[in-house]
Amino acid sequence: MPTTTAAAPVPVNVPELSIFDPVYLGIDESGMPVEVRLIYRNMLIAGEPGGGKSSLLNVIAAHGALSTDCRLCLFDGKQVELGQWEACADVFVGPDLALAIATVRRLQIVMDNRYRHLRWRLRRKIRRNDNFSPILILIDELAYFTATVGDKKLREDFASLVRDLVARGRAVGIIVVAATQRPSSDIIPTSLRDLFAYRAAFRCTTDSSSDIILGHGWANRGYTANTISPTNHGCNLLLAEGGVPHLMKTGWMDDDTCTRIAAHAAQTRAAARQERQAAQAPKPKLDLVAA
Ligand SMILES: Nc1ncnc2c1ncn2[C@@H]1O[C@H](COP(=O)(O)OP(=O)(O)O)[C@@H](O)[C@H]1O
Ligand SMILES: [Mg+2]
Repeated sequence: MPTTTAAAPVPVNVPELSIFDPVYLGIDESGMPVEVRLIYRNMLIAGEPGGGKSSLLNVIAAHGALSTDCRLCLFDGKQVELGQWEACADVFVGPDLALAIATVRRLQIVMDNRYRHLRWRLRRKIRRNDNFSPILILIDELAYFTATVGDKKLREDFASLVRDLVARGRAVGIIVVAATQRPSSDIIPTSLRDLFAYRAAFRCTTDSSSDIILGHGWANRGYTANTISPTNHGCNLLLAEGGVPHLMKTGWMDDDTCTRIAAHAAQTRAAARQERQAAQAPKPKLDLVAA
């Protein structure tokens, strides 16, 4: 008889995390965890280079990758910021504006089909365990696709498609988290900024840049990312719907940590996919003659 009891294997179809759960982002000034629910929401992340925007995107990517009830769609003109999560993603878009536009067009079609389905089912929004999964779209350096690369008309097309996803995608589980290092009104017009329920302002060089991210008037009320020290990487003012900006520091994952989480998540996702496919495969017919 064995003298030790082996630990029961964890069933692969149990998601370790869910995109419907609060997403851990970091800690606040008193060391308390800062968590936000991303489902039915969008998030804008902006500030000077080196502030910690891509690192925050990685924290969110980790939660999305570990959530087998969520699909990932990654846009990263630099390729190395979100590249670690490629194996967990349905689509990874590097410095390719044509692919970026084709991808957001597909997402728009998915969004419209999902609304058609909800309408047919007389429902208003996606639910946990629904028959379609939320899609987490992470865009690093939004301005690369909307203001830097390629033809102006194509950049405008991309910007207006993203705006449509941000404006209409929430109820069908399309979540956009976009980061940009250029907090200027041409990159983040007020009409677009106001569509983001969550806004994270990393270090800015002026009060007006901070206001472009958080909303007009916050700097006058004492909430400005201009006061964040350039050496305080990861520190930002996080504004959630209806609240006041909250000073916080995002969690930090080094390359090795990201690689290990991504490898584990990719394995879990592949196993979950296989289980789903097996559940959908046609059942063998009963052979009544042989019986
Ligand atoms: N939460 C954090 N804690 C500690 N250091 C951080 C944190 N976030 C970022 N850093 C440091 O700051 C550097 C720049 O971060 P990054 O996310 O690339 O900034 P950005 O995308 O705003 O340019 C990282 O390479 C890392 O060394
Ligand atoms: Mg970055």
